[in-house]
Amino acid sequence: MDGNLTYQGIGLDAATALALLEWQAEMGAEEPILDNTVDRFELAARPKPVMPEISLSQVKAPAALSATPDDPSALVAEAEALAASADSLAALASVQEDFDGIELKKGARNFCFSDGNPKARVLILGEAPGDQEDREGRPFVGRAGQLLNRMFGAIGLARDAVDAEKALYIVNVLTWRPPGNRDPSPDEIAVSLPFVRRHIELASPDLIVLMGNIPCQAALGRRGILRLRGQWTEAFGRPALPMTHPAYLLRNPAAKREAWADLLSIAARLETASA
Ligand code: URA
Repeated sequence: MDGNLTYQGIGLDAATALALLEWQAEMGAEEPILDNTVDRFELAARPKPVMPEISLSQVKAPAALSATPDDPSALVAEAEALAASADSLAALASVQEDFDGIELKKGARNFCFSDGNPKARVLILGEAPGDQEDREGRPFVGRAGQLLNRMFGAIGLARDAVDAEKALYIVNVLTWRPPGNRDPSPDEIAVSLPFVRRHIELASPDLIVLMGNIPCQAALGRRGILRLRGQWTEAFGRPALPMTHPAYLLRNPAAKREAWADLLSIAARLETASA
């Protein structure tokens, strides 16, 4: 066998077929389609089935709010109890990975807990794993992550630094990849938040960088990163600076100027705090 395949009458070698498949997955086309085609025009023309009328009095109330596994408030309570039970980062990683209250877990390849030095003075809170992060099980390892390394490298900080003064610790709001890199839903954020809060408590950084809209939504209850960026605030009881996400900077290089100002502001804050 020469490894060649045929796709819609066109011959493909295995490497091209794999590249096509990866491209489709990257675009979010991750669900297999049916074996037979569906004529949706014909479906639309069919008469709608008549539904029996049900009065409200016939609808049974749920026995208890926390009885259903997909009840977000019950899941948040469970996440809070698990997070509170962890007295170390290793314990937190273990309970968080085992927690089945986030559907995204089913479709993800790997659990992305953190990267870098947990003793770092600076903690970067990102959004969620993308394709590369999902493959490697570490946050910010794709193109945006490489830019993030260069950005923080410019102020003398690196995720692989042993010295806490020069190190970075990187965590995402979500530890499982949302399909097609869609934004996490408010429920997914709410259920992840107790773990993020405990993670930050245990790592105890001097300051937090809120990298993009999702961490701002999770920590401050606000979006609008272009207005929030560059203004120091407080998140999880610590000084926090919202910044534009490196993925945004890759698409909008002109915004790097403001990101540089934000990096200098972080360097100045670290300097003052250790003086
Ligand atoms: N973007 C994020 O916010 N986090 C990652 O881990 C990768 C991309």
